[in-house]
Amino acid sequence: MNTYILGIESSCDDTSAAILKDTFVLSNIIANQDVHKKYGGVVPELASRAHQKNIIPVIEQALKDANINKKQLHAIAFTNGPGLLGSLLVGTSFAKAFALASNIPLIEVDHLQAHILAHFVQQENKIKPTPTFPFLCLIISGGHTQIVKMDDYFTMTVIGKTIDDAAGEAFDKSAKILGLPYPGGPLIDKYAQIGNSEKFKFATPSVPNLNFSFSGLKTSILYFIQKETIKNPDFIETYKTDLCASIQKTIIDILIHKLEKAVKKTGIKQVAIAGGVSANSGIRKALLEKQNTDSWKVYIPEFQFCTDNAAMIAITGYFKYKQKVFSSQNISPYSRSSFK
Ligand code: KG4
Ligand code: ZN
Repeated sequence: MNTYILGIESSCDDTSAAILKDTFVLSNIIANQDVHKKYGGVVPELASRAHQKNIIPVIEQALKDANINKKQLHAIAFTNGPGLLGSLLVGTSFAKAFALASNIPLIEVDHLQAHILAHFVQQENKIKPTPTFPFLCLIISGGHTQIVKMDDYFTMTVIGKTIDDAAGEAFDKSAKILGLPYPGGPLIDKYAQIGNSEKFKFATPSVPNLNFSFSGLKTSILYFIQKETIKNPDFIETYKTDLCASIQKTIIDILIHKLEKAVKKTGIKQVAIAGGVSANSGIRKALLEKQNTDSWKVYIPEFQFCTDNAAMIAITGYFKYKQKVFSSQNISPYSRSSFK
């Protein structure tokens, strides 16, 4: 018998619902929140209000697109953290009420674990190879940057992490300095594709072990731009594509360098990426090159499963359902990562 899972994601500024039939995605609906654009970042109170508005229509659409009735669902999985508490509360409260009313199991899901397990989501007529254990996963999102060793679906060890900003923040904050709207990561990526990545050099951090730091890079970019803009007020506009390409290359070089160290240290050559920044064309290209030059086996998720989405919550819920790992109605969301 097939298992149908409804997944709900509401940790930040995207409201998403997905239906999975075993590991196959039947629908994956995402409602973005444009309301934050003019503030240059996510405003928590506005995010939770938008989730409240979006959650029912998004779930109804997910059921409709999957062409299933809610009575067919076996369980409901939801993001329990980390994220913005007000946003998480919307998904958590809905999931609890839905589980109670439908008399089906409630399954809490960790957002970061879900980003990694997104690699196991399959699409009909488009079956792809999935990583085998153990593998390394670089999580690069707006809030996190970690290298995780995955020994099985639920045994994960963080072997490196950022000591300050996340990779997504490095993109977004650099974009802000260039006057680009939030979130700036995709725009830097777009301009970088037609720019010269060797034109400008920025300071790269020296952080021990497998840890990362991005705050110095942001300061280095800010001072450089301030200095050049005094000499030439049109500096940013004139060199926009070269600046984006150079910033992107610097961030990618930092990430790849640490991944190389992680592969060397663990002897594991299966390398996956996850999280919003894995949509970046530069990191994708750099990793595919490593496949040729250093015989890594690289796993890159499809765009729709890189940024926040509920299919990744549903697949994590599916694996937990198979092991009968359910949550109680007393569960409450958490804002900070529980991974050590
Ligand atoms: O995983 P995600 O959707 O949300 C979090 O859990 O944080 O990641 C969002 C981050 C943002 O910082 C955004 O700028 C970045 O992913 N991002 C990108 C690209 N697409 C999204 N960064 C660089 N290049 C991209 N193409
Ligand atoms: Zn995320």
